[in-house]
Amino acid sequence: MKTQVAIIGGGPAGLLLAQLLHVRGIDSIVLERRSRAHVLGRIRAGVLEQGLVRLLEAAGCADRLHAEGHVHHGTLIAHADRVFRIDFSALTGSPVVVYGQTEVTRDLYAARDAARGRTEFEVEAVTIHGADTDAPQVSYAVGGEARRIECDFVAGCDGFHGVSRRTIPDTVRREFEKVYPFGWLGILSETPPVSEELIYANSERGFALCSMRNPRLSRYYIQCAPGERAEDWSDAAFWDELRRRLPADTAAALVTGPSIEKSIAPLRSFVCEPMRWGRLFLCGDAAHIVPPTGAKGLNTAASDVHYLWHALCDHYLNGCDDGIDRYSGRALARVWKAERFSWWFSGLLHRFPDQSAFDLKMQAAELEFLRTNTAAQQALAENYVGLPY
Ligand code: APR
Ligand code: PHB
Repeated sequence: MKTQVAIIGGGPAGLLLAQLLHVRGIDSIVLERRSRAHVLGRIRAGVLEQGLVRLLEAAGCADRLHAEGHVHHGTLIAHADRVFRIDFSALTGSPVVVYGQTEVTRDLYAARDAARGRTEFEVEAVTIHGADTDAPQVSYAVGGEARRIECDFVAGCDGFHGVSRRTIPDTVRREFEKVYPFGWLGILSETPPVSEELIYANSERGFALCSMRNPRLSRYYIQCAPGERAEDWSDAAFWDELRRRLPADTAAALVTGPSIEKSIAPLRSFVCEPMRWGRLFLCGDAAHIVPPTGAKGLNTAASDVHYLWHALCDHYLNGCDDGIDRYSGRALARVWKAERFSWWFSGLLHRFPDQSAFDLKMQAAELEFLRTNTAAQQALAENYVGLPY
């Protein structure tokens, strides 16, 4: 088989790139290791920056987002029974949109189907060959049958555990990592959200987050110890612990119900450099991971897709390779800023096992500064709504 761009990974990064290329008449094949049902069953964050909204519009996949997404003009931060608000729109002129990543992926698959784009599910043994030559190939198997794609470029959109990143030789690749000493236990429940806006809570029992997907579907998280298992937490135990970490008024207003999903996510900061090797480009979680505080994972994948899309359009439509040569530098410059914000916001809100009394005072002082200082709020707001690209 032949295509212009072989895309490894059918998560949001791979599918968004495929649709954007399609709009400009550039052909791609998407290879996904899992089934479509599995990909659409994953629950991830749900806060979209305007940059991602614009890309989804450009891809022709924003109708449902505009109809069903909820525009949020600010967020709430709780600390020591005190709640203050960061007004995104007043501070930056830009809101965010609450719309689940699962829904984004569903819309992208619907568009891919409508465009009759080629997607292979349940592929095995994906291997990239000759990424440092002018004629790369991707070999894989489906149902035991070996196949091969000849292409101009390979987009590695295969997440943190994919093969693309490891295709870059050890002598070229550098990895930077920080693993946090806790995880997030999250539940989804068919209950009305406790607040119209998200609440990020720093409590002495650990971090908590009140989020939502829509007016009937809530998403809540609590910081947990690294070795804990979701199945050891009953719904009642989760709700009790969440209440203890929220301001009294909020806890009293919380509507509880059975969870429809419960899982634990570890927290990690990770960046791989470079993000391009020859004709292989890394995009999204394949190249970098952020802790979820601030919901930058999908949004950072989107900025990579933006740079890569423009680079490939310049190559195919304008005969210019400048964007290809600058892809890694451009993407990484923005990635590191999102890494910094996610790391800082995580540090501000969580309890760390080795935190001294002095460290706790510093955290409290920083929260108080944020509560009372417009410049500090503006810095948070600019990062939260998304740095420009
Ligand atoms: N071959 C083919 N596909 C693969 C392989 C492989 N060897 N390894 C992984 N995949 C697939 C996964 O099954 C997954 O569907 O690649 C896809 C990667 O998707 P995501 O992990 O969702 O990553 P990405 O598309 O970069 O999205 C970034 O979405 O997943 C969240 O936390 C992530 O919020 C971040 C954003
Ligand atoms: C979510 O709704 O899942 C969510 C929202 C905001 C975050 C992280 C996760 O910072």
